Amino acid sequence: MKENRSHRQGLALVGLRGTGKSSVGRILADRLGRPFADADVELEAASGRSIPSIFAELGEPCFRDWEERMLGELTTRPELILATGGGVVLRESNRKRLREFGFVVWLTADPALLTDRLLANPRGLAHRPALTSAGTIAELADVLQARAPLYREVADLVIETGGRTTRQVVDAILDEWDDRGGQSS
Ligand code: S3P
Repeated sequence: MKENRSHRQGLALVGLRGTGKSSVGRILADRLGRPFADADVELEAASGRSIPSIFAELGEPCFRDWEERMLGELTTRPELILATGGGVVLRESNRKRLREFGFVVWLTADPALLTDRLLANPRGLAHRPALTSAGTIAELADVLQARAPLYREVADLVIETGGRTTRQVVDAILDEWDDRGGQSS
């Protein structure tokens, strides 16, 4: 069933890998009757390469340039529900763009839980480039610590996803968004 909401601004999901941005975004878009895009999927389609191959063959700076360009394009689409890649907040220009785009939700969870989720997911760790030389849990913990201030900077709403189903996360976002009249702060 589609839900009618009058707010016309976009909604972006940010957070580390494994926090459920894509699953939550798809359900949100369905509930709102709005378009959905996953920035990583769009980038892979536009470049004709997988993200691990971009990292391995062209390097992370190249990936970040393409990611920035893709974010610029996606944030021009009205009413879009957007799942972003976990590192999109690294660039100040992206953080600015996200804030201008609309309501930004930071999905977070304990790194150990994120590792379990990624290992249980077929598109899990094997399909994602390592971001540091540390092991999985240590890597996610380090990356979360480094990025937390950046996620916090852009977020209108922070949702702890641990102990919540995807649908409960969606409901929590919709409740908060409605309470705020669909406005970002
Ligand atoms: C990245 C997260 C990935 C993808 C790329 C880099 C990161 O997206 O954009 O591998 O820097 O955290 P997900 O968060 O969807 O895994």
